[in-house]
Amino acid sequence: MEAWFAVSGRDLPWRRTGDPYKIWVSEIMLQQTQVETVIPYYERFIRALPDVSALAEAEDDGLFKLWQGLGYYRRAAHLKEAAVTVMKDFGGHMPASYETLLQLKGIGPYSAAAIASIAYGQPKGVVDGNTLRIIARLFNLEDNIALDKTKKAFGQLMDALIGAAKSPSAFNQAMMDLGAMICTPRKPDCPACPLKDICRGRRADTILLLPVNIKKVKRETEEMVTAVIRAEDRLMLVRNREGLLKDLYGFVQTPCSSPSAFEAWFLEKYKVPIRLQSYIGDVKHVFTHRTWLMHVYAGYLLSDRDQVRDLLYTDRELEALPVSTAHMKVLKAWQKAEKDPS
Ligand code: ADE
Repeated sequence: MEAWFAVSGRDLPWRRTGDPYKIWVSEIMLQQTQVETVIPYYERFIRALPDVSALAEAEDDGLFKLWQGLGYYRRAAHLKEAAVTVMKDFGGHMPASYETLLQLKGIGPYSAAAIASIAYGQPKGVVDGNTLRIIARLFNLEDNIALDKTKKAFGQLMDALIGAAKSPSAFNQAMMDLGAMICTPRKPDCPACPLKDICRGRRADTILLLPVNIKKVKRETEEMVTAVIRAEDRLMLVRNREGLLKDLYGFVQTPCSSPSAFEAWFLEKYKVPIRLQSYIGDVKHVFTHRTWLMHVYAGYLLSDRDQVRDLLYTDRELEALPVSTAHMKVLKAWQKAEKDPS
């Protein structure tokens, strides 16, 4: 690995220095930003602010000007704040330990591990999408890297590997370069890989299946009162003007806390009084990112139906309307309750 890195690793400006300050600046710039984009910014920044004390004393306007176009500007403010801390609390020297680096503003686990290993030779592995992918393939592990416990376990594997490496700096940077150039997500170049002979994923032919990265969809539950409102032989449906079910028809519904609150809301909105008469039951419908929990009530119009005439449909008319699946479930629940009011 390290031999491969010495020959095939990328020649990048922050790799020609041992200065912890410069390595720190590079790692902050490389957060969420491509290597090619960072290079000119890095060189200009180091020329303008060559050490921690210059950064600690930098004027904000000049500092942000140096960052202009790189994005995530908070990084620049945090960098300066950390520089002030380094001057005040560490005598102007970047701390060397992973844990202490983590205390500085703007330095998260990845940057702390990168700085500790590259600038100080500390055996702390970097963990990100690239190294998680390499670990999954190298050891042929199907663990889901979207889970924190997998990240933690793979991080421990990284630490075990880097602990056995001669140069933690070269090991971490070799992993970064392998991930960027060889062990890529879709087109890995296995024949060129220094780990090809020990890669279990390659032997098992699972490289293109790994890593497993399945995020749990977060489904928020929205609760609402849904009303099947009748006027003689007709039911009231509305067409959605926007949202998830735009252009589909459904029964009137709104998030609210009680049937009487619904009646008041309905009067306000449609200017016709209704009476909710019975609770039909709950209907649940799961969409990709949300769940509706519909508390379904049956009711009827209390007076003249002129204002909502256009919203009333006979059974036959209803059959021709595009009704959302969620509300077809509501209709079925209502029909069942009508037929068999137990
Ligand atoms: N991405 C984050 N840190 C890096 C580094 N030191 N070299 C290349 N890419 C990186």
